[in-house]
Amino acid sequence: MTADTRQIEAAIYERLSRVIDPELGRSVTDLGMIAAINAVPAGDGRAAYDVTIQVELTVPGCPLSETITNQINGAVASYPDATLTPHIEVTSMSHDKLADLVADLKAERKQNPFNKPGIKTRIFAIASGKGGVGKSSVTANLAATFAALGYDTAAIDADIYGFSLPKLFGVHTQPTNLNGMLMPVTAWGVKLISIGMFAGADRAILWRGPRLQRSLEQFLADVWWGEPDVLLLDLAPGTGDMAISVAQALPNAELVVVTTPQPSASDVAVRSGLVALQVPMKVRGVVENMSWYEHKGEKLRIFGEGGGQRVSDQLTEALGYDVPLMAQLPLEPELRETGESGRPAVLTPEGALREDGIGREFRALAERLMR
Ligand SMILES: Nc1ncnc2c1ncn2[C@@H]1O[C@H](COP(=O)(O)OP(=O)(O)OP(=O)(O)O)[C@@H](O)[C@H]1O
Ligand SMILES: [Mg+2]
Repeated sequence: MTADTRQIEAAIYERLSRVIDPELGRSVTDLGMIAAINAVPAGDGRAAYDVTIQVELTVPGCPLSETITNQINGAVASYPDATLTPHIEVTSMSHDKLADLVADLKAERKQNPFNKPGIKTRIFAIASGKGGVGKSSVTANLAATFAALGYDTAAIDADIYGFSLPKLFGVHTQPTNLNGMLMPVTAWGVKLISIGMFAGADRAILWRGPRLQRSLEQFLADVWWGEPDVLLLDLAPGTGDMAISVAQALPNAELVVVTTPQPSASDVAVRSGLVALQVPMKVRGVVENMSWYEHKGEKLRIFGEGGGQRVSDQLTEALGYDVPLMAQLPLEPELRETGESGRPAVLTPEGALREDGIGREFRALAERLMR
């Protein structure tokens, strides 16, 4: 091996240290994915070399294999002083090496990454008393809005028995499982995890205990989240246990109460907000959903009116601080239709935030929540 080829190998290694694994957010060199780099003169007298790079992916058949090899090709092609022809050999890590890597990542991250002091992540737990008022639709569209606005956004489907986020985001894949550490599935720019993504045996393994508290902790600790700007939790309906688990596991979480305009929904919604009297959790505000339906330019109040304001007033009084009514969202058939097709309705088919209608409403809500 000549000095030349060693220099080239070192320079390539340096370049590869800037290739970031999209799931783990770390460079491929850091992660030990570059097993060898070997430069050999091409033998035709020019400054040309064949460069063989052995890449070890974390799991065989990793879905990101192509992205990573493209980036490696790009890094090699950008070498300035010679023509390099890359040959990339892809294998996967040995079981032991992967176990070490996962142990490293876990040790660095400790347990639940969201309860350390000074964390920048804003956490909003979307709750309601009554079922079917639109928590999941609000969560999905709000998450898609945050992502479209450029926030690093994550969402947890904390409705364990009635999960709905995989469907609303059109997710049909399973999270990659790295020796017990799960990668969230990214859809429409949002990092997602839901019990609905796991089938059969995997679901049973993940679900080691029947307790809700446990399942939330697993989602927090066993999933590689990085440090998103925003984390949304879609809670199950009711006034109950999950909100308490959230308060315990996520001391920074802020509750957002969703209601419809009619009294039957708003009364229970107030109770779901009153959980903040029992646990140290702030109620950030109220969202009234299905407030009106626009028909020939007229706003029809199909479900009556005043529910959101009532919840806001009652929670403000009971909790002793302002719990504002933050949004009134229209009844929009498209919201259900696109939801069923696997795309949050605030997004265009190309994934941009819609400028009109509910796109605008959700943008205003997102901006208000972040203030
Ligand atoms: N603003 C809206 N316009 C039209 N349809 C809506 C709207 N919000 C929600 N829906 C529809 O109402 C139904 C219930 O909504 P969603 O599943 O979001 O409620 P939820 O509160 O999460 O329900 P659950 O309590 O069962 O979890 C869905 O079919 C959804 O598409
Ligand atoms: Mg729901």
